[in-house]
Order: sequence, then structure tokens, then C-alpha cells
Amino acid sequence: MPKIAVTRWIPDDAVKVLAEAGEVAVSELDRPLTGDELREFVAGADAVVGMLHDRLDGALADAAGPGLKVVANVAVGYDNVDVPALAGRGVVVTNTPGVLTDATADLAFGLLLAVTRRIGEGERLLRSRTPWSFHLGFLLGSGLQGKTLGIVGFGQIGRAVAKRAEAFGMSIVHSGRSKPGSVPFEELLARSDVVSLHCPLTPETRHLIDAAALRAMKPSAYLVNTTRGPVVDEAALADALEAGEIAGAALDVFEKEPDVEPRLLGRDDVVLSPHLGSATVETRTAMAVLAARNVAAVLAGRPPLTEVKP
Ligand code: DGY
Repeated sequence: MPKIAVTRWIPDDAVKVLAEAGEVAVSELDRPLTGDELREFVAGADAVVGMLHDRLDGALADAAGPGLKVVANVAVGYDNVDVPALAGRGVVVTNTPGVLTDATADLAFGLLLAVTRRIGEGERLLRSRTPWSFHLGFLLGSGLQGKTLGIVGFGQIGRAVAKRAEAFGMSIVHSGRSKPGSVPFEELLARSDVVSLHCPLTPETRHLIDAAALRAMKPSAYLVNTTRGPVVDEAALADALEAGEIAGAALDVFEKEPDVEPRLLGRDDVVLSPHLGSATVETRTAMAVLAARNVAAVLAGRPPLTEVKP
């Protein structure tokens, strides 16, 4: 029976798929495993189902041993996976594209609304029992109709966000790798009222939003990040907000996740959520089931549904 190591809790539907393919061991620790724990946990595994907080690399493959055939990352992003190192050892790598597009786009748009309409700030005011009354000038936000949304990375999620923005009367500009209609990144920054990030984290996109990029945005503009934290230089973002270089930011992901730059935590012009982009029951189940089907396919000698090629 092949051994399948799952590094953290996954929904039952996915465990059922895995259980038909092999003997399943799910980590019982309700936290990310340390590197040493991870390597110990996967020893002897034929398949590893990993999370975005796990470093899935050559050392992990070596710890698993020569029987390792597949590493299934339960995420569409795979910046935590050393794909060349695994592929070089003959290990198939898979991710979970497609199934989380709408959930992530919904959350991105929810954050966009929350930051432009000051929803978190209003909620905090009520919960702190601060006296208030209706006033024409009270907690005014910024309307979206007629405004421009700049989408950085016009893949499936970026396009799904564009669809939502169009329904709100926004016009779209986008930049990204040679997508038809893309504008240069600098032009996108200068024209956008909201900049929403949907590019993967790669060496090229690490700190794509740095001090210079923030300075290039309109002082009235907002930044939304639902992709990977390190795409934004969080210290530079805090500086830019303090200097009034942009109007606000909404972040679902963080540079040193789960930590958040302390200067952002105290700011009313910042909306924060704890990496919830794909966090619906339906979507997280679909992601885990897709990962499980990928494992089952490879263990049965079939090609996986969604392979990441080096
Ligand atoms: C992903 O899939 O990459 C998200 O960040 C988690 O859903």
C-alpha cells in the first residue's frame, strides 16, 4: 500500500479520495511543521500533500526517500515548492489552479470595498462604543464608479476581479507578462485609483511594490494584495501610508506570514485579513480534493490533472 503523508488537516472528502489510493497519515499538530518535523513526518512516503506554509524541496524529497512519486501542493501558488529540485529527482509536482478563482476574486473585491468604503474602521468605531450620529461628512470613503482598477497579473484570478470591477462601473487597466492589451507597469501605477495584485511570487515580483512603485501611485489610490505577501515591501508600504503617498491598503497576505508589519496594525487606512482568499467551505474542499485526485492519479501511474512543470 503506498504511503501518503498529509502535512496538515484536510477536509474529509479529500481524505476519502486518498484513502482509496493508499495508507494516509495526516499530521495531528494544529500548526505548520518545522523543517525537521516535516522531514521526519514524510520519511518513507510515496506521496506528500503539502500546504503553502511547507517548504517542499529537495531536502524533503531526500527525507521521504526513493519511493516518493508526487508532491501535491494544496494551493495554486507554488513559490514554496522547489519544482526543479523535485522534478530532478523524478517527483511529479501538482498545484490547484482553477478551483479557487472565484473565491479569491470575491475576497479581493471585498477587501477593495472594505478599504475604499472604510468598513473596518466603521466597525471598530461601533465595537469600541464610540458615540456617533449620522452626519453628511462622517467616515466618507471613495466611490468606485468611473474609477480605474489596475490589475497586476492578468491570469484567471486577475480577470475574475476585472469582471467584478466592471459590474461596479470601473474601467480596467492591466499589466503582466505579454497579455494582449497590457500597459506598462509604470503606466498602470500612475493611472489606477485602485491597484490589485494577482501576479505569482517569483524572483521578479518579490518587492514589485516597493517605495518607488508606491510613490508612482496617486495619493488618492489604494493597494489590494491577495496574492503573496513578499510581492509588497511592507515596510515601504507603512512609510508610504505615513507619508500620505497613497490613501490606503487592504492585505490578505503578508511578507513574513503570519506576522504583520507592526506599523500597519495600528492604521485605520489599512484593512487586514488572515490569508482568506480561498477560504470558503466549497473552495477549500475543492482544492484538497483536486490535490488528492492528483496524488491518486500519479500513484495509479496516470498523469495528474494539474501538474506544475519545471
Ligand atoms: C493559493 O492557492 O495559492 C492561495 O494563496 C491559498 O488558497
